[in-house]
Amino acid sequence: MTAPNIETIVSLAKRRGFVFPSSEIYGGLGSAWDYGPLGVELSNNIKQAWWRWLVYERDDIEGIDSSIILNRLVWKYSGHEDTFHDPLVDCRDCKSRMRADKLEGYFPEGGGEFDPNERIRSGLVKCAECGSTSLTEERFFNMMFRTRLGALADEDDPTALAYLRPETAQGIFINFLNVQTTMRRKLPFGIAQVGKSFRNEVTPGNFILRTREFEQMEMEYFVKPDAEHFKLVDEWVALYFDWFKGLGIDTANLKLHEVPNGELAHYSKRTVDIMYRYFPERAEEERQWEELMGIAYRTDFDLRAHSNKPTDEEGKRVNPDSTEDLSYFDESNKQRFYPHVIEPAAGVNRTVLAVLMDAYSEKTNDKGETRVILKLSPQLAPIKAAILPLAKNKPEIVGMAKAIKRSLQPVLRAVYDDTGGIGKLYARQDEIGTPFCVTVDHQSLEDEAVTVRDRDTWEQERVKVTDLAEHLQKRLKPYPVVSPEVS
Ligand code: GAP
Repeated sequence: MTAPNIETIVSLAKRRGFVFPSSEIYGGLGSAWDYGPLGVELSNNIKQAWWRWLVYERDDIEGIDSSIILNRLVWKYSGHEDTFHDPLVDCRDCKSRMRADKLEGYFPEGGGEFDPNERIRSGLVKCAECGSTSLTEERFFNMMFRTRLGALADEDDPTALAYLRPETAQGIFINFLNVQTTMRRKLPFGIAQVGKSFRNEVTPGNFILRTREFEQMEMEYFVKPDAEHFKLVDEWVALYFDWFKGLGIDTANLKLHEVPNGELAHYSKRTVDIMYRYFPERAEEERQWEELMGIAYRTDFDLRAHSNKPTDEEGKRVNPDSTEDLSYFDESNKQRFYPHVIEPAAGVNRTVLAVLMDAYSEKTNDKGETRVILKLSPQLAPIKAAILPLAKNKPEIVGMAKAIKRSLQPVLRAVYDDTGGIGKLYARQDEIGTPFCVTVDHQSLEDEAVTVRDRDTWEQERVKVTDLAEHLQKRLKPYPVVSPEVS
């Protein structure tokens, strides 16, 4: 079972301290969300799992952490100033403002060249709110957030203009040579980065799925110009498919989407999206999916665009502002070239949502009460073990439970809780995905053993306190990653 819809997760997330609506005491701020005590643990665990998987377990990837605010010229030469925009339309009937390319009828069936305004004028494009075809012509809106640098800069001083990054990728490209030379890397190798990005989305919504501030886990994999780029895209797709599976996501809720040529980003020759079934409640299968991540073949577009050497047909430098040539010298054949790039770009927030939706399940107990169980993969669970005293008015039991909590803390995240009866405490831990509850009872004082209860089966086992850390660690091992089945 998975969550029946996103609303179920919104309510669980707020009730149990995963995610809160931001700025709520001032009426909220459309599309902004704050991660609470459990949400920050879950999202940190996802980011750490990703970093371990790429940067530590492989030998061909380095990590960096670049600035959010970069020189404006980065966004000029990356193409974002000119092309990072969404087409907007207004509905004349219901007055809604929407992203045109998300509307029914915007793209012609079967793809190919088309004039969106011609399609709008012909009444082929429908308002998402009221179904009207009386829409204004599309116009473009740049999604980068602007700011000004320095206390003295005035409102429209172009020399002070800067942007909050809309992707982490550019921080990687401009550091390509720094990383390659300091780490003495040879192709192929990758650079990974995780961090916040910002986009002034026209229609944010659906909880943490589309927000204006979000986190990305991006990796740029640099390869030779004659590598089999499309095949490498497929390989990275399969690896990520497997990774999501390893996080506990059911592959029935994942699918691939080959982005049609007319919809590719300005830098991409091929992009395959991994989609997650975020809207299982929708009757039409096709409308149940939204992008979880994309894997793009970015060619040598970015490294070339940021380099000072390339010239146009008239021999003029294409980038007169850059002071560097971001090319690579291949010792093996004494050739210099711009590496090509395969880019797997994933969203942290969308992964958090997919993981929460997929882990959601309900179970009925002996008394006929329905309980929510969040079957999170143990590696992602915010809390690994809850230590619960059976009698909170018995100082010896409380003391023993607290001592067990302290002894476990160096090896795994444990909490002590005595704020309710044992049934209630179990239910609370099930609902937040804690894989194990450890109960200290009267018998424990005599036999130095505790009861370990499994979240998913509710089975109980008696374990010696001296063996507890090892016992839990063994059972907390991440679910095994099985070979990819790309559909
Ligand atoms: N560097 C390539 C790039 O940024 P993208 O497809 O625009 O590609 C990558 O973004 C991922 O970032 C998406 O697949 C999604 O998971 C996440 N993402 C993008 N925009 C987002 C938004 N407004 N809110 C939440 N996540 C977003």
